Amino acid sequence: MKMWSGRFRQPLNSEFERWQRSFGFDRRLLQYELAASTAHATALKNAGILSANELIGILQGLEQLGKQSAGSLGFFEDDEAEDVHHFVEKQLVAFIGELGYKLHSGRSRNEQIATDLRLFVRAAIDQLQEELGKLGSAIVDRAEHAGDAAIPAYTHLQRAEPVLVGHWLLAYVEMFLRDADRLADCRKRLNLCPLGSGAVAGATLPLDRTLMADKLGFDAPTANSMDATSDRDFAIEFVQALSLLALHLSRWAEEMILFSSQEYGFIELPEAYSTGSSAMPQKKNPDLLELVRGKSGRVIGNATALMMSVKGLPLAYNKDLQETQEPLFDSANALLQMLPLVTGWMKAVEFHLEAMQKAANSGFMNAWAAATYLVNRGVPSRLAHERIGKAVQMCLERNCELKDLSLQELQSLSPAFGEDFKESLTLPAVLAAHDVVGGTAPGRVRQAIGAARKKIESLREEVHANA
Ligand code: ARG
Repeated sequence: MKMWSGRFRQPLNSEFERWQRSFGFDRRLLQYELAASTAHATALKNAGILSANELIGILQGLEQLGKQSAGSLGFFEDDEAEDVHHFVEKQLVAFIGELGYKLHSGRSRNEQIATDLRLFVRAAIDQLQEELGKLGSAIVDRAEHAGDAAIPAYTHLQRAEPVLVGHWLLAYVEMFLRDADRLADCRKRLNLCPLGSGAVAGATLPLDRTLMADKLGFDAPTANSMDATSDRDFAIEFVQALSLLALHLSRWAEEMILFSSQEYGFIELPEAYSTGSSAMPQKKNPDLLELVRGKSGRVIGNATALMMSVKGLPLAYNKDLQETQEPLFDSANALLQMLPLVTGWMKAVEFHLEAMQKAANSGFMNAWAAATYLVNRGVPSRLAHERIGKAVQMCLERNCELKDLSLQELQSLSPAFGEDFKESLTLPAVLAAHDVVGGTAPGRVRQAIGAARKKIESLREEVHANA
């Protein structure tokens, strides 16, 4: 039986009927639909609509439905169910008879879908937070193991200054921790319960909304029934947070792809996460990284699609809102599947620390530190910059490094150069010079590793507390 056929004289056009169904995708909300229905049934009993026995009957039916859904996929084969809400009603009636129709008393699918989606996003956030914690840990481990090895840091993709490998890796940890924080923020705002909002104006039965919110782990009921049934901000915030996460992952992937090329030779792609070429026998391709980079486009596109579906909608519920589900699910899927793979890749990749170190040792990446040497001897910064620029020019003409210039040559550029200048050019000295909070001096990086571990630990505790 349809949920709304009474006032209709004609049957639906069959193609339209199939086309407008959402059960093909919203069936993944079943567990949340069952949880919300359980809360609603309890409120119905307290409102005197269900007797104690009727409540027991409905709860048993819902439980049975949950068990069956965990079994064979065939259970979901239903050509009539319009959406997951209709499906549950049909199944419930099949299990417990007409009593099943009482469950819908005083509620609307508009509040149900708003509730189910909030529960879905909340659960996805909890899972993603856990995965981000694992990824963060894996990267921090690699940062720690890299010890004092250095790598060139690039600006404009030109060699700029040497940094510790650990410092470079921790940059990604910061990004992913901010992503986790954005998700936590989204979770805070979404954790309100729409149940009892009815179709648009609030339930027509005296339902205890606080009780329903409590039962579902929400902080409180939503404040306005029109807003609650038509708001999808939480889904938009979520896919936007995922877009930034995907964007960070795409930058990570791109850099790893570059560094794995023969031209850089900094990393060895893990075979377990790479594929070969059907034509060129020598190839080992960075497929995982490329797919991560590619999928980020889809995730960012989903955020736009979702916003466009909501843009310009008059209050309150409109069926357009059904269109917010697929981009939401697609983005959640993409990240939930990707993160454990990225963590696996991060653990398996091999760093060529000697090659990185060698690259970090040449190419005038000590030039700024060299200018700082002059600054420390009272030379104004702009002039020091200019003098070292001239020294670099000399070296380029002679195909050598700054350390190869004689003191005499240097002093022809500035009398401030002394015997100790060479010492300031060595890789350890250049690294140690960046001794500020957030800088790459080894002591600072060791502190940063400790701080990152602490942040990851509190993320873990947060996930644990929410579970
Ligand atoms: N499948 C619908 C959706 O996802 C459920 C809400 C339907 N409400 C309605 N008034 N037709 O939006």
